[in-house]
Parts: sequence; C-alpha cells; structure tokens
Amino acid sequence: MDKFYITTPIYYVNDEPHLGHAYTTVLADTLARYHRLFGEEVFFLTGLDEHGQKVQEAAERRGVPPQQHCDEMAGRFLDLWRKLGISHDDFLRTTQERHQRAVQMLLGLLYEKGEIYKAPYEGWYCIPDERFWTEKDLADGRCPECGRSVVRLSEDNYFFRMGRHQEWLVHYIEDHPDFILPEARRNEILGFLRKPLGDLCISRPKFRLSWGIPLPFDPDYVTYVWVDALTNYISAIGVFEDEARFRKWWPADFHFIGKDILTTHAVYWPTMLHAAGIELPRHIFAHGWWLVDERKMSKSRGNVVRPLELIEKYGPDAFRYFLMRDMAPGQDSSFSEEALVGRYNSDLANDLGNLLSRVVRMIGQYTGGRLPGPDSEDLTDRELREETLRAVGRVRRHVEALRLDFALEEAIEIARRTNRYLERTAPWRLYKEGRRERVGTVLYYAGEVLRILGDLLGPVMPRKAGDLKSQLDICSGGAWDERIRWGVLKPGTEVPGGPPLFPRVRPEVPKQGVAGKALITIEDFQKLDLRMAEVVSAEPVPGTQKLLHLEVDIGGERRQLVAGLAKHYRPEELVGKSVVVVVNLKPTRIRGIESQGMLLAADDGESLTLLTPDRKVRPGAKVR
Ligand code: ME8
Ligand code: MG
Repeated sequence: MDKFYITTPIYYVNDEPHLGHAYTTVLADTLARYHRLFGEEVFFLTGLDEHGQKVQEAAERRGVPPQQHCDEMAGRFLDLWRKLGISHDDFLRTTQERHQRAVQMLLGLLYEKGEIYKAPYEGWYCIPDERFWTEKDLADGRCPECGRSVVRLSEDNYFFRMGRHQEWLVHYIEDHPDFILPEARRNEILGFLRKPLGDLCISRPKFRLSWGIPLPFDPDYVTYVWVDALTNYISAIGVFEDEARFRKWWPADFHFIGKDILTTHAVYWPTMLHAAGIELPRHIFAHGWWLVDERKMSKSRGNVVRPLELIEKYGPDAFRYFLMRDMAPGQDSSFSEEALVGRYNSDLANDLGNLLSRVVRMIGQYTGGRLPGPDSEDLTDRELREETLRAVGRVRRHVEALRLDFALEEAIEIARRTNRYLERTAPWRLYKEGRRERVGTVLYYAGEVLRILGDLLGPVMPRKAGDLKSQLDICSGGAWDERIRWGVLKPGTEVPGGPPLFPRVRPEVPKQGVAGKALITIEDFQKLDLRMAEVVSAEPVPGTQKLLHLEVDIGGERRQLVAGLAKHYRPEELVGKSVVVVVNLKPTRIRGIESQGMLLAADDGESLTLLTPDRKVRPGAKVR
C-alpha cells in the first residue's frame, strides 16, 4: 500500500482562525480524503505554532499566561476543524513535550555537526514578523514582507550556517523540477537564490523573549520561532524517538502552504534538513491568496473573513465546495459571499441536489419506492454510462494534478449531463405509455450516476455525500475500482429519500430587485401612506370607456378618486368593497375631476384585480 503524508502550515495562535487557514486545511483534508479513497495509507498532519513574540504579546494583551492563551486558541481551531469535518490524523502543538524534545535534538545535532555558531548580531528586526533583515533587504526603511517599521537590534546570537548550503540547494531544485510547486514559485525561489544566501539567526535572547524552546546548548536563549515551527513536520512522526514510524512516513509527500511562507519552507527548511542529514520532503506546494476587495485578507487590513458565520449560513460542505471550486491552486482568487451563493444555487442546488430529488421522487412514483432493475441498454443509456466512467477517470487525474477546481467542474458536469439524460428519456412519458422496462432502466442508470457522484464528491463534501447515499440507501465502501464500476446498486432496494440536499438560498444582499428594478430602502417604502378604504359610491366618468369616479371612506374622511377600472368591474360591484388606497399621492385632475389618491390592483397583463383584505378591516387601517 502506498503511503501519503500531507501537511498544512501550523497556524499562529495570536488570532482566531480565518478563511485563509480554513482554505489550506480544507485543501489538505480534501486531498487526504481522495488519497484514502484511492487506496493509499494517509497521514494528515495539521497543528498550531504557539511560541514566539506574537503569541507572547497576544497573551499579554489579554492578560493571561501564554500557555492558557494557547490552550484557549487551540480550542477554537479544533472547534472549527470539527465543524468543517477535517480528518487530520494528528494535531501538533509546538508547546507539546514531544515537539520540544525533537527541536532540542535537532539543534543539538546541528550544533555537534558544526552547523551552528555564536556571533554578535546587528540588524533590523521586524517585531510582528519576528525576522531580522539586513540593510539591503529593507524596503524604504521598512520590513520588505509586511511593510511595517523595523527596529535596530544588536546582540550575541546563534547562527545556522545556511549560506554554505546555497549551491547544493540550487542544484537540488534544478534537479527536482517538481520539488517546489507550482512552477512560478519555483522560479521565484531560484531567483531569490541568485543573491548570496546569508546565515540564519536561530536564537532569541531570553531576556527579550521567554516564550520559546530553550537552546539545548545555551539556556540563555530560546529557539527562533521558524526553526521551532518547521520542525513540526518531523517531530509529529517521531523523528528521533520512533525510527520505524519516522521511516514509514518520511519524507512527506506534500507540504501545503500559502505563498506568504514560501522562503521559510523552500530555503530554510531544506537547508536545515540537509545539514542534519535528513531527506527532503517530496513536494512543497504554495497556493495563492484569497483576496477580499482585491487585497490580501489580513488582520491588519481589517478585511478578515471568519469561516464560522459562513458555515452557519450555508453549511460546512457548501463552504468546502466553494473553497475548492473557486480557487485555481497556485493563483489568487477573490472571495465574496455573492460568489459563494452563486455556486451554491447553481452547482449544488440546481445541478446536483435537483438530480437527486428528481430521481428519488420518480422512484417513489413509478417503481413503488424501490430501486428498479435495468433492462436492455439503448444508445442513450450507453452514452451516459460511458461518459460517466470516462469523466470519473478525468476527475481522478485532476485530483492527482491538484486541480480540484477542474475535478469539481467535471463532477458537476456529470450531474448536468444526467439531468439532460432525464429530459431526453422523459421517464414520466415512458410511464404514461406503460413502458415499465424503460422507466426501470433510466432510473437505475440515473441512480448509478448518483452513487458514483456520492463517491466522487465525498472527499469535498463528506456529510452531504453521506446524505446523498443514505437517500438512495447506498452503503458503498471498498476500493476505488469497486466503487467506480457500473452496476453496483442492487435492484429492489428500498429508496428512503429525504429532504432536499441543498435547499436554495437567497443572496443576502441582492443588487437588484426582480427583473432588474432598482432596489429601494425601507425609508423609501415608508414614504407611502397606504390605507384601507371602503367604496361608498361608483359611477362611470361620462365620455370615457375606462374610467370610474369613486368615492371612498378612508376612516372618517371621504376621498374621491378616478380609477381605470371600468373594463374590469361594473360600478355596482365595487360599492361596499374594502380596498387599498395610496392616500398621500399628490392630487391630479383627470377629466375635470380631482383624483385624491390611487387604488392598488394587481395587473397580470390582461386584467386588473383589486386588492382586498382576507378578513374584515376597518377603513383607515394602515397598510404596511
Ligand atoms: O505563517 N489566503 O502562520 P499563519 C489563503 N505559523 N491562505 C491564507 C491566507 C489567505 N489570504 N492567509 C493565510 C504562519 N493563509 C506560521 C506557519 S508552518 C511551519 C508555520 C494560510 O497563521 C496559508 O496557508 O500566518 C498561509 O501560509 C498560512 O495561512 C499562514 O498562517
Ligand atoms: Mg501570517
């Protein structure tokens, strides 16, 4: 059995989880689930980066000890991962003993190998990013990464001889074209490595920062947070403690990260591993950013999207689907709630959900609620079967190429094609014509597609795929090859059905009303004074075909109106009727009569129908 070891970054606990954290974690989870489905043994690691200045300061701001702060934040992350259905096999926190031991072992090893030395350090330090920069690194005197101001620091520190591995690293990247993915990121790193690579300061004096792992060879210092954090990928699998376990999983197949942390993963990490004599991970994949209003989402910009609210509104699986469908991994993508709602309604409610409810409903109506058996296959059926199986192959290839956006488009296209198949074969007509065998074949074929879709979409939408299967009473399992065969469903099975898989949602903030009418505010609406009124008298306006002259009681006050009702009501029909009148319309003269308001009537293009209350209401009552 092939193994597949996949990781996410370990996230800082200085803030709550946001959309970006959810994205990388869902991406890794989806791939982990696909690889399990493909029959591989998967180890999926995620976790938290709990040391360092940012976390220490966040705890100070809240007035709690750092460990307590970390524990509370860990609860939030885990809660979100549970809600999102994340199937990690391990959750590493850098404050765990097992991790701290591994970091110290690694540093001890590097120290013994002469890869670490002590020297005075002077440089520019970015406190929020916890990184030293040289004079030439700075952008207009500020941190080149975040643009914030830097401070001058001078102190003795420990250094990792990173620079001496530069040439080796360049060759390694050149010899392993798929080590850093996608290609643009690889080129970025090769470009970066054209400048001389300095050594890496890996310590912080304890007096300045206490929240870290002490250096094993000098207790006055703690470990630089990035050296601490990167080590998580090997500490979690027992690097210095459980040789068999480590050998089983290492090297990692994929480190998934955002492009914001490419240098640390593609330069620091490989040189650290190489210096320690440890193999390199197979692939580092740096995805793009979710942008909000064209800018990277970040706390300092105040445009952070919180996943919890979206999950509550649309459900975790629709949210997962959107994240995977709407980003081409490697490129940036804009987030908007409208786009999410659009995807939900078109792909999930219309194409997929609708297919399931149609099939379940027709099985209920035409085959007594039991799955029918297929009869002979005609050309249309065969096309559906062959197209579906071909598309399944394409889905798998897209997943292996990390193009989940393409994979999902392909899967939803299978649903669309099957909806078209139902239109063409029209089981409702076949049923009327008494062609029971054809009805059985068509519904069986559509059921088979749904079963396969349940498997294909399971890694992206685990809960909804489970609901889909239980509506058809499918308990599929087993190897990939078994699942994607045709003809797995057992005729005669009772089909329980269930509620709509994805009930349509309304966009929160429609930009336009029905048929493109401009939206009005509640204040606009409140300008109208609408009242109930009773028609006291009605007579034709002489010399006209359409107009009636009405007198109405609006609650102790009489008004006269001219209304174009003569073609739709006889005058005597109207007397005594309770109607709705706009009473604050500016009066106008029509045929010499002053009209002091307007009646409300429904117009369906052919006739006018007056709006009347469905219970008795006194004249003058407000209509709101
Ligand atoms: O950097 N779009 O943690 P972090 C997409 N602790 N993904 C985003 C994103 C966005 N707008 N914003 C963040 C750290 N991410 C370190 C990592 S690993 C050994 C240590 C995701 O909390 C993306 O995966 O700042 C990014 O790399 C990560 O969150 C940064 O999380
Ligand atoms: Mg960050």
